[in-house]
Amino acid sequence: MGKGSAQGESTLGTAQSQWKQTSLKSGHLSFHVSHMRLTNSIVKEPMVIGHEYAGVVEEIGNEVTHLAVGDNVTLEPGVSCAHCSHCKEGRYNLCDEMKCFATPPIHGCLANFVVHPASLCFKLPENVSLEEGAMCEPLSVGVHACRRAGAGPHTKVLIMGSGPIGLVTLMAAKEFGFPRVAVVDVDENRLKMAQELGAHEVGCVSTRIEDVEKEVLEIQQKMAAGIDITFDCAGLEKTMRTALKATRSGGEVCLVGMGHVEMKVPSTAAAAREVDILGLHRYRNTYQLCIDLISSGRINVKPLITHRFRFSQEDVVKAFNVSAMGGSAIKVMFNI
Ligand SMILES: NC(=O)c1ccc[n+]([C@@H]2O[C@H](COP(=O)([O-])OP(=O)(O)OC[C@H]3O[C@@H](n4cnc5c(N)ncnc54)[C@H](O)[C@@H]3O)[C@@H](O)[C@H]2O)c1
Ligand SMILES: [Zn+2]
Repeated sequence: MGKGSAQGESTLGTAQSQWKQTSLKSGHLSFHVSHMRLTNSIVKEPMVIGHEYAGVVEEIGNEVTHLAVGDNVTLEPGVSCAHCSHCKEGRYNLCDEMKCFATPPIHGCLANFVVHPASLCFKLPENVSLEEGAMCEPLSVGVHACRRAGAGPHTKVLIMGSGPIGLVTLMAAKEFGFPRVAVVDVDENRLKMAQELGAHEVGCVSTRIEDVEKEVLEIQQKMAAGIDITFDCAGLEKTMRTALKATRSGGEVCLVGMGHVEMKVPSTAAAAREVDILGLHRYRNTYQLCIDLISSGRINVKPLITHRFRFSQEDVVKAFNVSAMGGSAIKVMFNI
């Protein structure tokens, strides 16, 4: 596939001058796929996947001053319109015109070459590898969740779900100085990883709705001082019910996960205790911070990369099978 391939251009040819774009090659890309739908985005036609990417600059436009050919960069995948009220307010992640890698009908970046606006290409320092650069995307979700919750050094946190997103939220929560972080999941392998990454408490829960009351009590007993913020990083009816009941009066529940599109939750009881529900859509203005956190050694994303594959037909099939297993497979990385 050649530089400036039709694929890359069709993905990113909107609203940006070609000469402010950057072509990249030799990328590293991680992924985790399980269904063909995310909220209102439904894959209806064959689509290239991939939105967690880092690569080497192959060519730059003549107006680009902050990058040079040969630089290692990580790509923020969403191109917003820059003109709507959300974009003007700086909340560009809410832009209705957002064109994001691998959000239908936009193709993703699992490709040998991609073309991307230079302003969304972030140069990696020498001590940050391409693999770590690709991890800035999921880490951004955890950073944005912690920022949204506006928590401080006294905040006690519960994280529901220790998949990649729960784990990056754990990393960000620890870096943001939250003194006590508990993580629950249904999978012991994932909880083991959460413990290794510094969760103060971990708990294995069931998938049964009828266990919510009992589990809420167990969680509250473990977190004796009360839970100020719960990050639901699974987004299922059971996890949201647990989150709304377990969080202290006046606390917050941040709904990060998108497991169930609709759910029945004890909303009135939660409202009567002034438990606020915060939504979350990706992230904004997080990439440079994530690079700095990784470069300074304050966050180590390497343990999350559990499997690596080459970008060949045979390896791609193996990689999808490993990722679909879940469990000890967290991030599966392609070395392109
Ligand atoms: N809001 C956003 O912008 C945003 C961004 C990225 C991902 N997401 C969403 O975040 C969610 C998590 O992503 P991921 O990559 O970590 O997925 P994942 O499926 O790997 O992780 C979900 C975890 O939840 C656990 N789980 C399942 N049932 C549970 C239960 N009853 N109680 C506790 N834990 C339970 C699973 O075992 C798993 O470890 C997904 O729904 C994804 O779509 C949202
Ligand atoms: Zn916009």
